[in-house]
Amino acid sequence: MLEKFLPQNWRANPRNERTFDHSHTVARAAKVIAAQTSVLDPELAYLYGLMHDVGKFHLPPRESYKHPRVGYELLKSPHSDIAAICISHPFPDFDARHHILQYCKNDEVEAAEVQKILQTVEENTYVELIQFCDKVSTIDGYISIEEKLKWYNETYGISLQELNAEYIKPLLHIKKKLEKLTNRDVYELLLK
Ligand SMILES: [Fe+2]
Repeated sequence: MLEKFLPQNWRANPRNERTFDHSHTVARAAKVIAAQTSVLDPELAYLYGLMHDVGKFHLPPRESYKHPRVGYELLKSPHSDIAAICISHPFPDFDARHHILQYCKNDEVEAAEVQKILQTVEENTYVELIQFCDKVSTIDGYISIEEKLKWYNETYGISLQELNAEYIKPLLHIKKKLEKLTNRDVYELLLK
């Protein structure tokens, strides 16, 4: 389904190849975790993981930060459930204004638009599942939330303290919730 929503020349940009692989890695994680629960459909979870970054393929790298909203716009009328995944996947706390603005590279118009759309989205378990799986997925493997945050810190210079309240806390809360639903250590599930 992902290919159906990609621009024709998407392979021309090497960033897109990485996003394509990452999308499949997130999809596999979502399916593996969902399969261990009695409340999530593994195939639907796979589809959501696969589609979460679709907006990125439609943007040049310098505008990548707009990809949650662009994915949302692309899918909202035929598939509002997938659109909700696209807009929400980087934001484990919908009310975290500071984090949303930071994510949008201080583009206030974009951040305001994202916040407006988030107000219409339901924070359900699929939304949380993809937020978590995205964070622990690299291009072709899995790492812990803590390792990913260290990477953010080293790559973008965002302090861990700054990330803590609006970002790490809700992600760890989601991890706990998924572990309750699966009755398993989710890292163990993914690293098997
Ligand atoms: Fe993304």
